[in-house]
Amino acid sequence: MLSTKTGFPNESGPIGIFDSGYGGLTILRQIRSLMPQYDYVYLGDNARAPYGTRSFELVYEFTLQAVTHLFQQGCPLVILGCNTASAKALRTIQQKDLPLLDMTRRVLGVIRPTAERVGILTQTRHVGVVATPGTIKSHTYELEIAKLYPDVVVTGEACPMWVPLVENYEYDSPGADYFVKKSLDRLLEKDSLIDCIILGCTHYPLLLNKIQKYVPQGVRVMPQGEYVAASLKCYLERHPDMERRLSTGGQVLYQTTEQADVFQSNASVFMGQDVSAQRVNL
Ligand code: DGL
Repeated sequence: MLSTKTGFPNESGPIGIFDSGYGGLTILRQIRSLMPQYDYVYLGDNARAPYGTRSFELVYEFTLQAVTHLFQQGCPLVILGCNTASAKALRTIQQKDLPLLDMTRRVLGVIRPTAERVGILTQTRHVGVVATPGTIKSHTYELEIAKLYPDVVVTGEACPMWVPLVENYEYDSPGADYFVKKSLDRLLEKDSLIDCIILGCTHYPLLLNKIQKYVPQGVRVMPQGEYVAASLKCYLERHPDMERRLSTGGQVLYQTTEQADVFQSNASVFMGQDVSAQRVNL
């Protein structure tokens, strides 16, 4: 079993939120606005981002390192604020690694809460998912939605250019219009009955204005932060033992595997406020 930095495995601690880079900040922001009382540690593996084009094995290996690190920071609960990691690593970590690391801690993802919501919102029962190539290839959205709503038809479109646009500050540029329109047109050509489009990558809310511009009227665009936050709140209500283990100072610690000053200036854009970060090794 892991011990935390202070050596007490069961003391109270922050909620850990992990992403390959900046995308998980869109999840942190929503979770924090719903539950500002808790402490949080945000970890961005910026040195090795993006994950979306990497193999299953590497995404799993990197995600396990991140989860282990967040446990060592004292987090009783870790949210994978990354669809790619949720699609490729979550199940294995829950089933194989948690029993070895610490059965009392929990790791949750972002796909299930989004799948739960889409079945309530779609009228046509035709849903689109835009995501990284890794998430689309894993077919995790199809599988999760089919478990809950077998009547819903799910069509995916990989958008390999969207994360680089966000990570390189190009999300508001004319170049972004080209790539956003191209991927959305392809998705809607595959299934014109789609009435809900899941933004299945936590970076994509930064492209929301562009996405809205190219989506026909009546099609709902679904960024997932709000659903993940609401689902976490319900989870904590259902699991008071876990809730009691969360520390409540309202603090956020930002950690990155890349240069802290670069992270700080980019993360400030995502969070809409100044961010101070520290560099860590996984
Ligand atoms: N933000 C991550 C996601 O939700 C992916 C970004 C990446 O490719 O690293 O899928």
